[in-house]
Amino acid sequence: MSQDNAGSPVVSAADQAQEHPGDALENLLHENRRFAPTPEFAAAAVVQAGEYDDAAADAPAFWAKQARSLLSWSKDFSQTLDWSNPPFAKWFADGELNAAYNALDRHVENGLGDRVAIYFEGEPGDTRTYTYAQLTEEVKKAANAFEALGLAKGDRVAVYLPMIPEAVITLLACARIGAVHSVVFAGFSAEALRSRIDDAEAKLVVTADGTYRRGKPSALKPAVDDALQKPGHTVEHVVVVKRNGEDVAWTEGRDVWWDTTVGAASAEHTAVGHEAEHPLFILYTSGTTGRPKGILHTTGGYLTQAAYTHRAVFDLHPETDVYWCTADVGWVTGHTYVAYAPLINGATQVMYEGTPDSPHQGRWWELVEKYKVSILYTAPTAIRTFMKWGRDIPGQYDLSSIRVLGSVGEPINPEAWMWYREVIGANAGKQGQKKDHPAPIVDTWWQTETGAIMVAPLPGVTATKPGSAQVPLPGIAVDVVDEMGQPVSNGAGGYLVLREPWPSMLRGIWGDPERYKDTYWSRFETMYFAGDGAKKDDDGDVWLLGRVDDVMNISGHRLSTTEIESALVSHPSVAEAAVVGAADETTGQAVVAFVILRGSAKDDPDIVTTLRNHVGKEIGPIAKPKTILVVPELPKTRSGKIMRRLLKDIAEGREAGDATTLADSTVMSQISDSLRK
Ligand code: PRX
Repeated sequence: MSQDNAGSPVVSAADQAQEHPGDALENLLHENRRFAPTPEFAAAAVVQAGEYDDAAADAPAFWAKQARSLLSWSKDFSQTLDWSNPPFAKWFADGELNAAYNALDRHVENGLGDRVAIYFEGEPGDTRTYTYAQLTEEVKKAANAFEALGLAKGDRVAVYLPMIPEAVITLLACARIGAVHSVVFAGFSAEALRSRIDDAEAKLVVTADGTYRRGKPSALKPAVDDALQKPGHTVEHVVVVKRNGEDVAWTEGRDVWWDTTVGAASAEHTAVGHEAEHPLFILYTSGTTGRPKGILHTTGGYLTQAAYTHRAVFDLHPETDVYWCTADVGWVTGHTYVAYAPLINGATQVMYEGTPDSPHQGRWWELVEKYKVSILYTAPTAIRTFMKWGRDIPGQYDLSSIRVLGSVGEPINPEAWMWYREVIGANAGKQGQKKDHPAPIVDTWWQTETGAIMVAPLPGVTATKPGSAQVPLPGIAVDVVDEMGQPVSNGAGGYLVLREPWPSMLRGIWGDPERYKDTYWSRFETMYFAGDGAKKDDDGDVWLLGRVDDVMNISGHRLSTTEIESALVSHPSVAEAAVVGAADETTGQAVVAFVILRGSAKDDPDIVTTLRNHVGKEIGPIAKPKTILVVPELPKTRSGKIMRRLLKDIAEGREAGDATTLADSTVMSQISDSLRK
């Protein structure tokens, strides 16, 4: 198993059942269970129903109000939205603010210095607690240390760290001095890290000797060393956090220990305001073409929507709540809802380094009980894994503190939604007592590109429905349209689009403005095309149906079919490859690859293992195909396009569909014959 988008386990192929959860679409759209908030919850909720009308009356004015009430600006803005050059938006452009000051210093100045910001729990069981005052001090030291290493405003920093407090400290220290962080998920390979370092021209890398996985040390620094082995990169220094104490190779003059640089730096550092549109971070994500895109987010708009959504969607009461988002900082969820929003909002959060089954399958629930977690935000793949492990495991812990449950990353099937509600949301103690009113579930739809939540119920307002993200948030213009860009009527399906700019929208793709326009704004000219299929039900609520492009969603990880195909064909034994995402009961989708081998490779009994490892090396373990099928041919149209639809039929165990447009009509039978053998 490996860590995924929401810190959930990706189970091995052998563990996985072959059938899809299979809630037929028709059933989904006639889902008639509704769970209204209790009057008590509704009355105490931080956001009330009137907010939708306020925002609809004047969305930019609504966001300007949020920007001023949730953030402290060192210079106020005079213009809210500049949309004079679409699709390039500017929000609050002449305002200035400092992200780290907003996340830290101001809370200390407001007398909240002793409030716990982070309860950290390492996989081996070591713990650390940071108050807001302590975290502020650490970030100031890191900011001084990074500046002493030559880092200045606008420079890029690659971050390759496990889920430890230094990850949050690094991000905030970069933001404080105006450096732009580019986090690379620690499950990506040295090759993937290098291509991201090169694309962003990073000057500094922050990493760790390693981390822990299932009770054993797991290395990270060697991947950085590999990535930087070939000359031609822009990296001047590598800051190394000592986490697991394993020996590491050392490049004198380039490598420095966190403890001796950050640890020795001064804790005095004054935050200056940066322009609202100053780049905050780049985060690479997979698209339909092979090369990952560097999604660019800027400061003022991003922080506004991050803070607003975190407060509204989770009904955050920062004085009393204990919040836990299980996402890794390597993904956007770990940026917006671990590193930024909770701290901006002055919340207390839990951070956990390890996997959910280490040292036992009750680890998460033990943590919920220990820290009295009241808001839990995780991914459907984790919930489905816990379902498989059985309700007895969470049943052994007291989860009565939980009052809001969140879901993100992929569609949540109603069966998993109901389990989440009944087993986690209704658990009132160790003896199997049930709450009268289980915690509301908020299914949140958004993307790396949107920066923050876009579609979700409000827990004190919306009557929730199992499986649906339901309604656009106040101030957000979402629609479902047909091929021609016309809105579909209730009960019909189409493509999810965003009609109006939103504060935390991506500002572009790093170094490639044309690709930004082509990818998101050309399919439906004046609307942002998200790449997701969606339906509106009879009430007009939105149901997300998965990607309509070549992007796969494996345990909430976003992977592109073409990226894995490129990795496969880069191996000398592979002549051609086609990859599809096949429905999978636990991980949502699983990677299935069809390959045509060259020459003698056909006789190599280990070729499948070799190729899986090759993909692991090129991209990372998360991208390894679950299944590789060796075939004599691939189905192609006359224009040479691979018909993935037919391969998906095979991968999901169906008869292949209509093959009349194939250039060679015998290909499908050749494939089935070879697979039978
Ligand atoms: O397909 C949608 C799916 O995840 C994609 C975005 O992936 P990423 O940029 O990695 O960000 C994931 C975390 C925000 C979307 O295009 N997705 C995300 N949330 C949901 C979802 N699909 C259905 N329901 C959701 N709640």
